[in-house]
Amino acid sequence: MIPPRATFPEGFLFGAATAAYQIEGSRFGGAGPSHWDTFAATPGNVVRAEDGGLACDHYHRWPEDLDLIAAAGFDAYRFSTSWARVMPDGVTVNPEGLDFYDRLVDGMVARGLQPFLTLYHWDLPAALSDLGGWRNRDTAFRFADFAETVARRIGDRVASVATINEPWCVAWLSHFHGAHAPGLRDIRAAARAMHHILLAHGAAMESLRGLGQPNLGIVLNFDHATPASDAPADLAAAAVQDAIFNRWFIEGLTKGTYPAEALAGLGPHMPTDWQADMGLISGKLDWLGVNYYTRHIHAAAPGTPWPATREVPGPLEKTQMGWEIYPEGLQRFLTRLARDHVGDLPIYVTENGMAHADVVGVDDSLRESFIAQHFRAAQQAMAAGCNLQGFFYWSLLDNYEWAEGYEKRFGLVHVDFDSLARTPKASYHALKRALARN
Ligand code: NOJ
Repeated sequence: MIPPRATFPEGFLFGAATAAYQIEGSRFGGAGPSHWDTFAATPGNVVRAEDGGLACDHYHRWPEDLDLIAAAGFDAYRFSTSWARVMPDGVTVNPEGLDFYDRLVDGMVARGLQPFLTLYHWDLPAALSDLGGWRNRDTAFRFADFAETVARRIGDRVASVATINEPWCVAWLSHFHGAHAPGLRDIRAAARAMHHILLAHGAAMESLRGLGQPNLGIVLNFDHATPASDAPADLAAAAVQDAIFNRWFIEGLTKGTYPAEALAGLGPHMPTDWQADMGLISGKLDWLGVNYYTRHIHAAAPGTPWPATREVPGPLEKTQMGWEIYPEGLQRFLTRLARDHVGDLPIYVTENGMAHADVVGVDDSLRESFIAQHFRAAQQAMAAGCNLQGFFYWSLLDNYEWAEGYEKRFGLVHVDFDSLARTPKASYHALKRALARN
């Protein structure tokens, strides 16, 4: 059973999360192309070359979607603003785009939902991608302008603002593994993106603070790096992956330094004078967002280029993504972040959830037990001293799962991608029961 609201402290926030490109429909409302539109149009990048052109048609169906969030008893809704919708060429404002987010935020407030805004959830305008995207230092300052434009329009009604969603995905997954737009496999591009994405955060924080915008943070993802064995080489392999994934961003943000284990490979490819940016990058945060899904098991791969590691399949039960279900990892990260990095800074689990091959009418009780296990892991971390203030389920709706297209279903609500009908799953009803007051 999902631990009910009453087992959490008074005021603990429960929410559902989505992102613009994954649900809105990028073809509507005068939005410009983003690098995801071009990445998806390139054969071989995305399953069935699916894109976010229509997605869940949330651009038109948002009132129904907000009704679903409110009816489940959630307190908050985490959404993102599409840069390519607000600024189709990355610079010039599209008033229709801002109008959309204005209506959306009013809709949340009218339903008693606290708006948790994420400014960048990956839809970089293609025009900025043409100029080098996150390889280009200037993109960081264009992002700060975008942040300011959005805040001036809807900042008065949002409860919280995150600058960037999952910098590891923006930088490493997209420029080193080539799995997400722009699909590069280039260590130099990756090193630059690893730094410029944090510079974008720092520059935007400065602009937003200048406007007096309260409650500013960033959303990082963490993936437990488990060594394949106790052999020193495997321990070192897990340590280097831990440094790239789980330490680079939080240490840059809180200490103003990057871990030596990661700089060992990335150092020669970093932008000139990157050290001079670390003061801006490590400014004050008001809260930290944690996205957590799974762990990976790492072994040494001698004779291959840095980081010289390989992934080994694990024995635990897996989701539709092939990701092992490992709630202990959430408890460990929340405890570790509080202990080693942020002290009593408020933390939110900004994403946690699972994909399952759901069809209408079939019980998704595995998702219910996934949520129950991760709520309990969060409660254990709180008992151990983590100042956790809220928990957002990913995702409200089945949606566009990036390179996996529409096949991987993370929703509490089933979406039929032909009719676009929404049908709440059993997990939606289970969560609703847990969130009910009294
Ligand atoms: C993290 C990302 O923020 C989100 O966009 C994605 O759909 C989920 N993980 C699931 O992979």
